[in-house]
Amino acid sequence: MRCASAPGKVILFGEHFVVYGVPALVVSLGLRAKVYAERSGGGVEVVEEHSEPVASAARYVAERLGYDGGLRLRVESEIPRAVGLGSSAAVSIASAAATSLLIRGELLGDLVLEAGQAGERTVHYNPSGIDTAIAFGGGGGVYRRGEGLRQERFRLGSIIVIDTGVERRTGEMVERVRRFAEREPGRFRRVMEEAAALVEEAGEALNTGDLEAVGALMNRNQDLLRVIGVSSPIIEEAVSKALELGALGAKLTGGGGGGCVIAVAEEGKIDEVAGRLGGRFRVMVPRLMVEGVREEAC
Ligand code: MEV
Repeated sequence: MRCASAPGKVILFGEHFVVYGVPALVVSLGLRAKVYAERSGGGVEVVEEHSEPVASAARYVAERLGYDGGLRLRVESEIPRAVGLGSSAAVSIASAAATSLLIRGELLGDLVLEAGQAGERTVHYNPSGIDTAIAFGGGGGVYRRGEGLRQERFRLGSIIVIDTGVERRTGEMVERVRRFAEREPGRFRRVMEEAAALVEEAGEALNTGDLEAVGALMNRNQDLLRVIGVSSPIIEEAVSKALELGALGAKLTGGGGGGCVIAVAEEGKIDEVAGRLGGRFRVMVPRLMVEGVREEAC
């Protein structure tokens, strides 16, 4: 048996627009998914959750390595599912890595990244690749479709992650944006241009550690996400509540339609804001910018 794990993520700026080529800023989270892989009698069998992405990623690796025996995979994940924190990408990458270790005795990086993307495609219409890139590489930085992840050392100590508890499928939200772009191409183009300018400013603010600017830009990013139709009443409630309690900025993260909201606050205020939001939502202040995919002891 061999095991591997990969982290979840939060998109700080640029989700959805990244599908259409705008850069996005992303960091990995200190919550991991671990996959155990072992040889079995025949076929690919996944015990418990996440069966589709886990099986597809493992099958992709097995096929490319010419392995036609059976595989049994088991998942243990700390990442809440279907709330925008990259759980399907993390399990796909961890599954591909564990399978690569089992069959070949090493973690074949390029193959694991491709296989992770194959796993992600089973749950998510037209993925940009941002979730698999960060699950694979860890750390944080600027992701651009077709170019991959460029690591940056963002000066961001902590963020508050507010889970609305409403699950949704990222693929449906991506499809909703595609319909908006089709219906209102001129408006969509203008929003994309704004998003691109905003992401560039946000990159500078994160590199210099200007938290106030980061917060203001998050609020502007949330305005754009509202325009393209991926916010929802529960997201708006979480955003307003965070701002009311003194956060410098807040926005949805990931696909939207429910899922998670992120907020930034001055270091000394984080515990208070997080604590008071905790009365209504599940709130985390996770570790950021952690190691990417890695082998684990089983
Ligand atoms: C999902 O975490 C981020 C989206 O931009 C989709 C994608 O980039 O594949 C909504």
